[in-house]
Amino acid sequence: MIIKPKVRDFICVTTHPSGCETHIREEIEYVKNSGKIQNGPKNVLVIGASTGYGLSSRIVPTYAWDANTIGVFYERPSTETRGGTAGWYNSYFFKKIATENGRYAKNINGDAFSKDIKKKTADLIEKDWGKVDLIVYSLASPRRTDPETGEIYSSVIKPVGSTTFTSKSILTDKGKIVEATIEPATDEQVRGTIKVMGGEDWQLWIDYLKERGLLSEGFRTVAYSYVGPEQTWPVYKDGTIGKAKEHLDETARQITAQNEALNGRAFVSVNKAVVTQASSAIPVVPLYIAILFKVMKRKGVHENIIQQIYRLYKDHLCGKQLAENLEDIRIRIDDLELEESVQEEVAEIWEKIDQENLDELADLKGYQKDFLQLFGFEYEGVDYEVDVEPHCDDPEVIQ
Ligand code: NAI
Repeated sequence: MIIKPKVRDFICVTTHPSGCETHIREEIEYVKNSGKIQNGPKNVLVIGASTGYGLSSRIVPTYAWDANTIGVFYERPSTETRGGTAGWYNSYFFKKIATENGRYAKNINGDAFSKDIKKKTADLIEKDWGKVDLIVYSLASPRRTDPETGEIYSSVIKPVGSTTFTSKSILTDKGKIVEATIEPATDEQVRGTIKVMGGEDWQLWIDYLKERGLLSEGFRTVAYSYVGPEQTWPVYKDGTIGKAKEHLDETARQITAQNEALNGRAFVSVNKAVVTQASSAIPVVPLYIAILFKVMKRKGVHENIIQQIYRLYKDHLCGKQLAENLEDIRIRIDDLELEESVQEEVAEIWEKIDQENLDELADLKGYQKDFLQLFGFEYEGVDYEVDVEPHCDDPEVIQ
Protein backbone atom coordinates (compact mmCIF):
# COMPACT_ATOMS: atom_id res chain seq x y z
CA MET A 1 0.00 0.00 0.00
CA ILE A 2 1.22 3.52 -0.82
CA ILE A 3 0.41 5.81 2.10
CA LYS A 4 0.20 9.60 1.76
CA PRO A 5 -0.65 12.16 4.43
CA LYS A 6 -4.29 13.19 4.73
CA VAL A 7 -4.52 16.18 7.03
CA ARG A 8 -7.84 17.31 8.50
CA ASP A 9 -7.39 20.47 10.58
CA PHE A 10 -4.99 19.51 13.35
CA ILE A 11 -4.99 15.77 12.79
CA CYS A 12 -3.50 13.56 10.10
CA VAL A 13 -5.76 10.57 9.51
CA THR A 14 -3.11 8.41 7.83
CA THR A 15 0.16 7.16 9.29
CA HIS A 16 3.28 5.73 7.72
CA PRO A 17 4.85 2.75 9.51
CA SER A 18 8.32 3.13 7.94
CA GLY A 19 8.39 6.81 8.96
CA CYS A 20 7.42 5.89 12.53
CA GLU A 21 10.24 3.33 12.58
CA THR A 22 12.67 5.98 11.34
CA HIS A 23 11.49 8.33 14.07
CA ILE A 24 12.24 5.70 16.73
CA ARG A 25 15.66 4.92 15.24
CA GLU A 26 16.56 8.63 15.07
CA GLU A 27 15.65 9.19 18.74
CA ILE A 28 17.64 6.10 19.74
CA GLU A 29 20.66 7.36 17.75
CA TYR A 30 20.41 10.73 19.45
CA VAL A 31 20.52 9.10 22.90
CA LYS A 32 23.38 6.77 21.98
CA ASN A 33 25.41 9.68 20.61
CA SER A 34 24.71 11.80 23.67
CA GLY A 35 26.34 9.30 26.01
CA LYS A 36 25.49 7.19 29.01
CA ILE A 37 23.72 8.62 32.06
CA GLN A 38 24.83 7.43 35.51
CA ASN A 39 22.56 6.48 38.44
CA GLY A 40 19.49 5.83 36.32
CA PRO A 41 16.55 3.88 37.81
CA LYS A 42 16.45 0.27 36.64
CA ASN A 43 12.71 -0.37 36.22
CA VAL A 44 10.77 2.39 34.51
CA LEU A 45 7.02 2.50 33.90
CA VAL A 46 5.86 5.11 31.38
CA ILE A 47 2.13 5.90 31.26
CA GLY A 48 1.41 7.61 27.93
CA ALA A 49 4.46 6.01 26.30
CA SER A 50 3.58 5.93 22.62
CA THR A 51 4.06 9.49 21.34
CA GLY A 52 5.47 12.90 22.32
CA TYR A 53 7.07 13.39 25.70
CA GLY A 54 6.18 9.92 26.99
CA LEU A 55 7.80 8.11 24.06
CA SER A 56 11.09 9.95 24.55
CA SER A 57 10.81 9.32 28.30
CA ARG A 58 10.96 5.64 27.45
CA ILE A 59 13.73 5.81 24.85
CA VAL A 60 16.21 7.74 27.03
CA PRO A 61 16.29 5.24 29.97
CA THR A 62 16.50 2.28 27.58
CA TYR A 63 19.53 3.58 25.74
CA ALA A 64 21.24 5.92 28.21
CA TRP A 65 21.52 3.27 30.94
CA ASP A 66 19.87 0.01 29.78
CA ALA A 67 16.72 0.39 31.88
CA ASN A 68 13.80 -2.03 31.64
CA THR A 69 10.61 -0.31 30.50
CA ILE A 70 6.90 -1.02 30.47
CA GLY A 71 4.92 1.36 28.26
CA VAL A 72 1.19 1.98 28.72
CA PHE A 73 -0.73 3.75 25.96
CA TYR A 74 -4.09 3.83 24.21
CA GLU A 75 -3.71 3.39 20.46
CA ARG A 76 -5.59 1.84 17.56
CA PRO A 77 -3.69 -1.25 16.39
CA SER A 78 -3.25 -1.89 12.69
CA THR A 79 -5.24 -4.70 11.04
CA GLU A 80 -4.99 -6.47 7.69
CA THR A 81 -7.24 -3.83 6.17
CA ARG A 82 -6.59 -0.67 8.18
CA GLY A 83 -3.50 1.19 9.33
CA GLY A 84 -2.84 1.78 13.03
CA THR A 85 -2.26 5.09 14.79
CA ALA A 86 1.26 6.54 14.92
CA GLY A 87 1.52 5.61 18.60
CA TRP A 88 0.77 1.99 17.71
CA TYR A 89 3.60 1.86 15.17
CA ASN A 90 5.98 3.79 17.45
CA SER A 91 5.41 1.30 20.27
CA TYR A 92 5.62 -1.70 17.96
CA PHE A 93 8.96 -0.59 16.52
CA PHE A 94 10.35 0.61 19.83
CA LYS A 95 9.69 -2.76 21.43
CA LYS A 96 11.01 -4.66 18.42
CA ILE A 97 14.26 -2.69 18.23
CA ALA A 98 14.82 -2.56 22.01
CA THR A 99 14.24 -6.31 22.29
CA GLU A 100 16.63 -6.99 19.40
CA ASN A 101 19.16 -4.87 21.27
CA GLY A 102 18.78 -7.05 24.36
CA ARG A 103 16.64 -4.65 26.38
CA TYR A 104 13.48 -5.48 28.34
CA ALA A 105 10.50 -3.63 26.79
CA LYS A 106 6.83 -4.60 27.14
CA ASN A 107 3.71 -2.86 25.85
CA ILE A 108 0.26 -2.46 27.38
CA ASN A 109 -2.42 -0.99 25.12
CA GLY A 110 -5.60 0.14 26.88
CA ASP A 111 -7.27 2.81 28.96
CA ALA A 112 -4.81 3.89 31.65
CA PHE A 113 -7.69 5.48 33.57
CA SER A 114 -9.33 2.08 34.08
CA LYS A 115 -8.85 -0.31 37.00
CA ASP A 116 -8.30 -3.16 34.55
CA ILE A 117 -5.20 -1.64 32.92
CA LYS A 118 -3.77 -0.62 36.31
CA LYS A 119 -4.18 -4.20 37.47
CA LYS A 120 -2.63 -5.70 34.33
CA THR A 121 0.32 -3.31 34.65
CA ALA A 122 0.80 -4.12 38.35
CA ASP A 123 0.60 -7.86 37.62
CA LEU A 124 3.34 -7.51 35.01
CA ILE A 125 5.56 -5.46 37.34
CA GLU A 126 5.06 -8.03 40.09
CA LYS A 127 5.87 -10.94 37.82
CA ASP A 128 8.84 -9.47 35.92
CA TRP A 129 10.39 -6.83 38.20
CA GLY A 130 9.14 -7.11 41.75
CA LYS A 131 9.29 -3.32 42.17
CA VAL A 132 9.17 -0.21 40.01
CA ASP A 133 11.72 2.60 40.52
CA LEU A 134 10.39 5.38 38.29
CA ILE A 135 6.88 6.13 37.06
CA VAL A 136 6.58 8.71 34.28
CA TYR A 137 3.04 10.03 33.90
CA SER A 138 2.67 11.56 30.43
CA LEU A 139 -0.99 11.22 29.51
CA ALA A 140 -2.75 13.74 27.29
CA SER A 141 -6.35 12.78 26.72
CA PRO A 142 -9.58 14.49 25.68
CA ARG A 143 -11.69 12.41 28.08
CA ARG A 144 -11.68 10.10 31.04
CA THR A 145 -14.16 7.61 32.40
CA ASP A 146 -14.19 7.72 36.19
CA PRO A 147 -13.34 4.14 37.28
CA GLU A 148 -15.68 4.31 40.30
CA THR A 149 -18.79 6.00 38.90
CA GLY A 150 -18.49 5.32 35.17
CA GLU A 151 -19.11 9.02 34.53
CA ILE A 152 -17.32 10.40 31.46
CA TYR A 153 -15.45 13.69 31.85
CA SER A 154 -14.16 15.82 28.98
CA SER A 155 -11.21 18.13 28.91
CA VAL A 156 -11.55 21.46 27.09
CA ILE A 157 -9.08 24.23 26.35
CA LYS A 158 -10.80 27.46 27.28
CA PRO A 159 -10.26 30.58 29.35
CA VAL A 160 -11.55 30.64 32.91
CA GLY A 161 -13.60 33.61 34.14
CA SER A 162 -16.08 35.78 32.36
CA THR A 163 -14.06 37.21 29.47
CA THR A 164 -14.11 35.90 25.93
CA PHE A 165 -10.55 35.54 24.66
CA THR A 166 -9.66 36.81 21.20
CA SER A 167 -6.22 36.39 19.72
CA LYS A 168 -4.23 35.82 16.59
CA SER A 169 -3.98 32.15 15.71
CA ILE A 170 -3.03 30.03 12.74
CA LEU A 171 -4.59 27.27 10.69
CA THR A 172 -1.36 25.32 10.40
CA ASP A 173 -2.44 23.06 7.54
CA LYS A 174 -3.39 26.06 5.40
CA GLY A 175 -0.75 28.49 6.68
CA LYS A 176 -3.48 31.02 7.29
CA ILE A 177 -3.47 33.57 10.10
CA VAL A 178 -6.91 33.93 11.62
CA GLU A 179 -8.51 35.45 14.65
CA ALA A 180 -9.50 32.88 17.27
CA THR A 181 -12.32 33.65 19.65
CA ILE A 182 -12.78 31.36 22.61
CA GLU A 183 -15.69 31.61 25.01
CA PRO A 184 -14.92 31.10 28.69
CA ALA A 185 -15.46 27.65 30.17
CA THR A 186 -18.46 26.78 32.28
CA ASP A 187 -17.81 25.59 35.84
CA GLU A 188 -18.59 22.08 34.71
CA GLN A 189 -15.99 22.28 31.94
CA VAL A 190 -13.37 23.49 34.42
CA ARG A 191 -14.20 20.56 36.71
CA GLY A 192 -14.14 18.13 33.76
CA THR A 193 -10.72 19.31 32.59
CA ILE A 194 -9.28 18.94 36.10
CA LYS A 195 -10.75 15.43 36.30
CA VAL A 196 -9.09 14.44 33.01
CA MET A 197 -5.79 16.33 33.00
CA GLY A 198 -5.26 16.98 36.73
CA GLY A 199 -3.51 14.66 39.14
CA GLU A 200 -6.37 12.40 40.26
CA ASP A 201 -5.47 9.48 38.03
CA TRP A 202 -1.73 9.90 38.70
CA GLN A 203 -2.51 9.61 42.41
CA LEU A 204 -4.66 6.51 41.78
CA TRP A 205 -1.76 4.83 39.95
CA ILE A 206 0.68 5.54 42.78
CA ASP A 207 -1.81 4.48 45.47
CA TYR A 208 -2.55 1.25 43.66
CA LEU A 209 1.11 0.36 43.06
CA LYS A 210 1.77 1.12 46.73
CA GLU A 211 -1.15 -1.03 47.87
CA ARG A 212 0.30 -3.90 45.83
CA GLY A 213 3.73 -3.34 47.44
CA LEU A 214 5.37 -2.56 44.11
CA LEU A 215 6.98 0.84 44.79
CA SER A 216 10.69 0.57 45.48
CA GLU A 217 12.44 2.32 48.35
CA GLY A 218 13.39 5.79 47.02
CA PHE A 219 11.07 5.56 44.01
CA ARG A 220 10.51 8.64 41.86
CA THR A 221 7.54 9.73 39.81
CA VAL A 222 7.24 12.63 37.40
CA ALA A 223 4.36 14.22 35.46
CA TYR A 224 4.62 16.93 32.82
CA SER A 225 3.35 20.48 32.76
CA TYR A 226 3.61 23.67 30.75
CA VAL A 227 3.69 27.36 31.65
CA GLY A 228 4.64 29.28 28.50
CA PRO A 229 4.53 33.01 27.77
CA GLU A 230 1.89 35.61 28.58
CA GLN A 231 0.39 35.54 25.06
CA THR A 232 -0.93 32.05 25.72
CA TRP A 233 -1.82 32.40 29.41
CA PRO A 234 -5.53 33.20 28.96
CA VAL A 235 -6.00 29.96 27.06
CA TYR A 236 -3.33 27.86 28.78
CA LYS A 237 -1.81 28.72 32.17
CA ASP A 238 -4.80 30.73 33.43
CA GLY A 239 -7.32 28.61 31.52
CA THR A 240 -8.94 25.23 32.14
CA ILE A 241 -5.78 23.26 31.39
CA GLY A 242 -3.77 25.51 33.74
CA LYS A 243 -6.23 24.68 36.52
CA ALA A 244 -5.65 20.99 35.84
CA LYS A 245 -1.89 21.56 35.95
CA GLU A 246 -2.24 23.35 39.34
CA HIS A 247 -3.98 20.21 40.55
CA LEU A 248 -1.02 18.19 39.23
CA ASP A 249 1.33 20.29 41.38
CA GLU A 250 -0.83 19.71 44.47
CA THR A 251 -0.89 16.00 43.70
CA ALA A 252 2.91 15.88 43.48
CA ARG A 253 3.18 17.41 46.96
CA GLN A 254 0.62 14.98 48.27
CA ILE A 255 2.30 11.91 46.75
CA THR A 256 5.64 12.97 48.24
CA ALA A 257 4.10 13.55 51.68
CA GLN A 258 2.26 10.23 51.62
CA ASN A 259 5.33 8.25 50.65
CA GLU A 260 7.87 9.63 53.09
CA ALA A 261 8.36 6.23 54.71
CA LEU A 262 9.48 4.87 51.36
CA ASN A 263 11.56 7.99 50.70
CA GLY A 264 9.53 8.36 47.50
CA ARG A 265 9.27 11.66 45.65
CA ALA A 266 6.98 13.11 43.00
CA PHE A 267 7.93 15.89 40.60
CA VAL A 268 6.27 18.01 37.96
CA SER A 269 8.59 18.82 35.11
CA VAL A 270 7.69 21.98 33.22
CA ASN A 271 8.63 21.28 29.62
CA LYS A 272 9.09 23.37 26.50
CA ALA A 273 6.37 23.83 23.89
CA VAL A 274 6.83 21.26 21.13
CA VAL A 275 4.69 19.95 18.29
CA THR A 276 2.71 16.91 19.44
CA GLN A 277 -0.76 15.62 18.78
CA ALA A 278 -1.83 17.19 22.06
CA SER A 279 -0.33 20.67 21.50
CA SER A 280 -1.47 20.99 17.88
CA ALA A 281 -5.08 20.89 19.08
CA ILE A 282 -4.69 23.97 21.29
CA PRO A 283 -5.78 27.27 19.71
CA VAL A 284 -3.18 30.08 19.61
CA VAL A 285 -0.33 27.79 20.74
CA PRO A 286 0.73 26.61 17.23
CA LEU A 287 1.36 30.21 16.07
CA TYR A 288 3.38 30.84 19.21
CA ILE A 289 5.34 27.62 18.61
CA ALA A 290 6.10 28.59 14.99
CA ILE A 291 7.46 31.96 16.14
CA LEU A 292 9.32 30.43 19.07
CA PHE A 293 11.03 27.86 16.84
CA LYS A 294 12.18 30.59 14.47
CA VAL A 295 13.74 32.56 17.34
CA MET A 296 15.23 29.58 19.19
CA LYS A 297 16.68 28.02 16.04
CA ARG A 298 18.30 31.31 15.06
CA LYS A 299 19.80 31.66 18.52
CA GLY A 300 20.98 28.03 18.43
CA VAL A 301 19.02 27.06 21.57
CA HIS A 302 16.17 25.09 20.00
CA GLU A 303 15.52 21.65 21.51
CA ASN A 304 13.25 18.90 20.26
CA ILE A 305 11.46 16.38 22.46
CA ILE A 306 14.24 13.83 22.82
CA GLN A 307 16.76 16.59 23.60
CA GLN A 308 14.48 17.96 26.33
CA ILE A 309 13.94 14.58 27.92
CA TYR A 310 17.61 13.60 27.75
CA ARG A 311 18.39 16.81 29.67
CA LEU A 312 15.56 16.11 32.13
CA TYR A 313 17.10 12.77 33.05
CA LYS A 314 20.75 13.76 32.92
CA ASP A 315 20.58 17.02 34.85
CA HIS A 316 17.56 16.48 37.06
CA LEU A 317 16.05 13.03 37.61
CA CYS A 318 19.45 11.29 37.65
CA GLY A 319 21.60 14.37 38.11
CA LYS A 320 22.58 16.94 40.68
CA GLN A 321 19.86 19.52 40.12
CA LEU A 322 17.08 17.89 42.15
CA ALA A 323 15.92 20.12 44.97
CA GLU A 324 16.46 18.73 48.46
CA ASN A 325 13.42 20.49 49.86
CA LEU A 326 10.55 18.02 49.62
CA GLU A 327 8.08 20.84 48.97
CA ASP A 328 10.01 21.81 45.89
CA ILE A 329 8.31 19.60 43.36
CA ARG A 330 8.97 21.53 40.17
CA ILE A 331 11.68 20.83 37.64
CA ARG A 332 12.17 23.47 34.94
CA ILE A 333 13.42 22.37 31.54
CA ASP A 334 11.54 25.20 29.86
CA ASP A 335 14.34 27.56 30.90
CA LEU A 336 15.65 28.10 27.37
CA GLU A 337 12.16 28.81 26.04
CA LEU A 338 11.42 31.33 28.76
CA GLU A 339 14.82 33.01 28.65
CA GLU A 340 14.26 36.79 28.59
CA SER A 341 15.86 37.61 25.24
CA VAL A 342 13.96 34.76 23.55
CA GLN A 343 10.65 35.93 24.97
CA GLU A 344 11.27 39.59 24.15
CA GLU A 345 11.85 38.71 20.55
CA VAL A 346 8.83 36.40 20.39
CA ALA A 347 6.62 39.14 21.88
CA GLU A 348 7.88 41.68 19.33
CA ILE A 349 7.16 39.32 16.46
CA TRP A 350 3.78 38.40 17.92
CA GLU A 351 2.70 42.06 17.67
CA LYS A 352 3.60 42.49 14.03
CA ILE A 353 3.09 39.05 12.47
CA ASP A 354 0.52 38.88 9.67
CA GLN A 355 -0.16 36.88 6.52
CA GLU A 356 2.42 38.80 4.46
CA ASN A 357 5.40 38.41 6.78
CA LEU A 358 4.45 34.96 8.17
CA ASP A 359 7.19 32.99 6.38
CA GLU A 360 9.84 35.50 7.26
CA LEU A 361 8.94 35.82 10.95
CA ALA A 362 7.78 32.34 11.88
CA ASP A 363 9.04 28.84 11.21
CA LEU A 364 5.79 27.52 9.80
CA LYS A 365 7.66 25.09 7.53
CA GLY A 366 9.45 23.66 10.56
CA TYR A 367 6.12 23.38 12.38
CA GLN A 368 4.46 21.63 9.45
CA LYS A 369 7.37 19.22 9.06
CA ASP A 370 7.33 18.35 12.79
CA PHE A 371 3.57 17.86 12.55
CA LEU A 372 3.74 15.49 9.57
CA GLN A 373 6.62 13.61 11.20
CA LEU A 374 4.32 12.82 14.14
CA PHE A 375 2.48 10.59 11.67
CA GLY A 376 5.56 9.13 10.00
CA PHE A 377 5.80 11.47 7.00
CA GLU A 378 8.58 13.78 5.78
CA TYR A 379 11.46 11.59 6.93
CA GLU A 380 14.56 11.66 4.80
CA GLY A 381 15.54 8.17 3.80
CA VAL A 382 11.97 6.89 3.60
CA ASP A 383 10.74 6.30 0.06
CA TYR A 384 7.08 7.26 0.23
CA GLU A 385 6.46 5.96 -3.29
CA VAL A 386 7.24 2.40 -2.28
CA ASP A 387 4.58 -0.11 -1.24
CA VAL A 388 4.51 -0.61 2.52
CA GLU A 389 2.85 -3.29 4.63
CA PRO A 390 0.51 -1.38 6.98
CA HIS A 391 -0.09 -4.28 9.40
CA CYS A 392 2.38 -4.52 12.25
CA ASP A 393 1.04 -7.25 14.47
CA ASP A 394 2.24 -7.55 18.05
CA PRO A 395 0.79 -10.76 19.49
CA GLU A 396 2.54 -10.07 22.80
CA VAL A 397 0.91 -6.72 23.50
CA ILE A 398 -1.20 -6.80 26.68
CA GLN A 399 -4.63 -5.26 26.25
P1 NAI B 1 0.81 13.16 23.15
O1 NAI B 1 -0.54 13.38 22.59
O2 NAI B 1 1.96 13.09 22.21
O3 NAI B 1 0.84 11.78 24.01
C1 NAI B 1 -0.20 11.38 24.83
C2 NAI B 1 0.01 9.95 25.28
O4 NAI B 1 -1.08 9.60 26.16
C3 NAI B 1 -0.01 8.90 24.16
O5 NAI B 1 0.94 7.90 24.46
C4 NAI B 1 -1.41 8.30 24.25
O6 NAI B 1 -1.52 6.96 23.78
C5 NAI B 1 -1.60 8.35 25.75
N1 NAI B 1 -3.00 8.27 26.17
C6 NAI B 1 -4.01 9.15 25.94
N2 NAI B 1 -5.15 8.73 26.54
C7 NAI B 1 -4.85 7.56 27.17
C8 NAI B 1 -5.58 6.64 27.94
N3 NAI B 1 -6.86 6.83 28.24
N4 NAI B 1 -4.95 5.52 28.39
C9 NAI B 1 -3.63 5.30 28.09
N5 NAI B 1 -2.88 6.15 27.38
C10 NAI B 1 -3.48 7.26 26.92
O7 NAI B 1 1.01 14.27 24.27
P2 NAI B 1 2.25 15.14 24.80
O8 NAI B 1 2.20 16.47 24.17
O9 NAI B 1 3.50 14.36 24.79
O10 NAI B 1 1.76 15.36 26.30
C11 NAI B 1 2.20 14.59 27.39
C12 NAI B 1 2.24 15.49 28.63
O11 NAI B 1 3.22 16.52 28.41
C13 NAI B 1 0.90 16.20 28.92
O12 NAI B 1 0.73 16.26 30.31
C14 NAI B 1 1.15 17.61 28.37
O13 NAI B 1 0.35 18.57 28.98
C15 NAI B 1 2.62 17.78 28.71
N6 NAI B 1 3.32 18.85 27.97
C16 NAI B 1 3.23 18.95 26.60
C17 NAI B 1 3.85 20.01 25.95
C18 NAI B 1 3.76 20.16 24.46
O14 NAI B 1 4.14 21.23 23.95
N7 NAI B 1 3.32 19.17 23.73
C19 NAI B 1 4.64 21.02 26.69
C20 NAI B 1 4.76 20.76 28.09
C21 NAI B 1 4.09 19.72 28.71
